[in-house]
Amino acid sequence: MNLHTKPGFSHRTKLESVREPTDEEFELFRKLVLTKLGLNWGSEKKYLLYSRLQKRLQHLKLSTFQNYFNYIHKEKNGSELQHLYNAVTTTKSGFYREKQHFEFLRREILPELKERMLRNRLKLRFWSAGCASGEEAFNLAMEAHDFLGTGLISNGGLRILASDVNTEVLDSALKGNYTAEQINNVPDEMKKRFFVSGANQQNDEQTIRTDIRKCIEFRHFNLMASEYPIATKFQLIFCRNLLYYLHPEIRELLLKKLVDHLDEKGWLVLGVTESGYNVEGLQKHSFSTYRKI
Ligand SMILES: C[S@@+](CC[C@H](N)C(=O)[O-])C[C@H]1O[C@@H](n2cnc3c(N)ncnc32)[C@H](O)[C@@H]1O
Repeated sequence: MNLHTKPGFSHRTKLESVREPTDEEFELFRKLVLTKLGLNWGSEKKYLLYSRLQKRLQHLKLSTFQNYFNYIHKEKNGSELQHLYNAVTTTKSGFYREKQHFEFLRREILPELKERMLRNRLKLRFWSAGCASGEEAFNLAMEAHDFLGTGLISNGGLRILASDVNTEVLDSALKGNYTAEQINNVPDEMKKRFFVSGANQQNDEQTIRTDIRKCIEFRHFNLMASEYPIATKFQLIFCRNLLYYLHPEIRELLLKKLVDHLDEKGWLVLGVTESGYNVEGLQKHSFSTYRKI
């Protein structure tokens, strides 16, 4: 395949010192991201590999992807692998992305959980698995605060685990800063209640309020790990737009692990396009929403 013909590619953006990956080099990386991240790369991802990593190779003064592969394996602490993960993961996210899930949360999930909180003193435990830059986790926290009220939420009434394998997006999630454009989909009333003016006034940056941030624990965590360092069972897991990128067999394995971490009658919410997966032990509801039976 001639990489020069790919859309968006031009001689101007090509860094001459880095050679395009050969088929053999691509194969090395295809296998690496499959075993380490579960990603299901076809040959069309050769361009992605090149475009997302050429600057890194240039920075390291490496001219071929074979050199880079060797470099990754020489590093004992795995820090170059993390660079690779940050470069190749797709991290698009947004507030109220796939809005129907938040409508479902408010209409079906939160009313029932509220009743259980009041009746059985249930403590809510949610997980945003593959949280990217944090919008999903903050969105869950905002909706829960709005629906349940601060009284029920405070003192450990709600804790949200937000995990991702990409450290760059996690760093940005931890800051909780978003531009005016990024919070465009947040209703004005929610903006007023849950955001304060951020440090960077130039781009109208807004910061999530501290008490909303406090109930969220952002954690660096690869879902491919053999054991999950999580003792909690969750009433709700959002794992949207992550499994889509994985090899079908790995996807099934990870789905089983997620189900293991669901509480009895817990909910699993996948991305809206992720509807055809084989999810054992769960009953399907609408919008890629499942419930443990
Ligand atoms: C497309 S984003 C989805 C963000 C959010 N869930 C949403 O739907 O808006 C997918 C996220 O999954 C993360 N991810 C991919 N593979 C992962 C893995 N093996 N372990 C943990 N996170 C992973 C990526 O780093 C990325 O931030």
